[in-house]
Amino acid sequence: MKPKVYIAKPVSEKVENYIAAHCDYKMWRGEENIPKDVLLEEIQDVEGLIIPKAKVDKDFIKNAPHLKIVSHIAVGYETLDTDLMAEHEIIGTHTPYVLDDTVADLILGLMLSSARRISQLDRYVKEGKWNKLDDPFFLSKDVHHATLGIIGMGRIGEEVAKRASLGFDMNVLYYNRSPRPEAEEKYGAEKKTMEQVLKQSDFVLTMVPLTDETHHLIGEKEFKMMKKDAIFINPSRGNVVDEPALIQALEANEIGGAALDVFETEPVDPGNPLLTMDNVVTTPHIGSATADAREAMAMKAAENLVAGVTGGKPENVVKELSHLV
Ligand code: DGY
Repeated sequence: MKPKVYIAKPVSEKVENYIAAHCDYKMWRGEENIPKDVLLEEIQDVEGLIIPKAKVDKDFIKNAPHLKIVSHIAVGYETLDTDLMAEHEIIGTHTPYVLDDTVADLILGLMLSSARRISQLDRYVKEGKWNKLDDPFFLSKDVHHATLGIIGMGRIGEEVAKRASLGFDMNVLYYNRSPRPEAEEKYGAEKKTMEQVLKQSDFVLTMVPLTDETHHLIGEKEFKMMKKDAIFINPSRGNVVDEPALIQALEANEIGGAALDVFETEPVDPGNPLLTMDNVVTTPHIGSATADAREAMAMKAAENLVAGVTGGKPENVVKELSHLV
């Protein structure tokens, strides 16, 4: 008998066939996200779940007495209560590596778009307007040779450092608990204190996972330390930033602008003041959203799922369980 699993979002035929070869499965085929009540119903008799993101807490676990693995199709896993899952011997997995380049590409896009005001001026042209020679309004900020400060130098941070240093001749500073010798050697990145990064950078990028420690890591005090024309870029998680403090810093011209792929509340509230600021570039949490990256993430998550329900060791476990070590 094959183990029973539930696929909580439509996946490609290739991924579906891979899961089908190893498991009995049902799949949510709706275009909208799976409703919570349907999910809670479907997990009652399965050993494995594959899902873009699930809030795995006490209620969830109570509904899924046979669950052995929750395989996230995402790299961030702040919605998993990993201690609770470990207590119940439920494995959590995620999908690192396969999206690093894709997210790094978007970050460069956000940086260029905000510095050169591409999305703002795109709207301008589409309104039938054109530039006036040397009108300061059109004179934006250089990216090349500027200083980029990366807060959280993980794999994605290093990919950004590579692009910034080798492609744009940028100086790269970083703040990270542990040094990243490869980034230092290859891309000239310099390890600094958080304060130095905030004070010296033209572009400040937060690339940390959301944890209790990184919640509101950047707030009023940190914005005040930034250069007056610094551009703040956040493609990680909205709650890493105290959003009202960001709004206040932008309104008071304490920083030059922001480029945000994530928000404290998602979907973002249409009344959020950030949406009406010309010096703020926004995207709807699309860091890993290319067809190839999402397919690679789904396949990696499927491999983790199958390993988890067939007694193997999934490659991308978020917290080691004793029986796996
Ligand atoms: C991730 O993989 O964590 C992306 O941010 C999508 O949530």
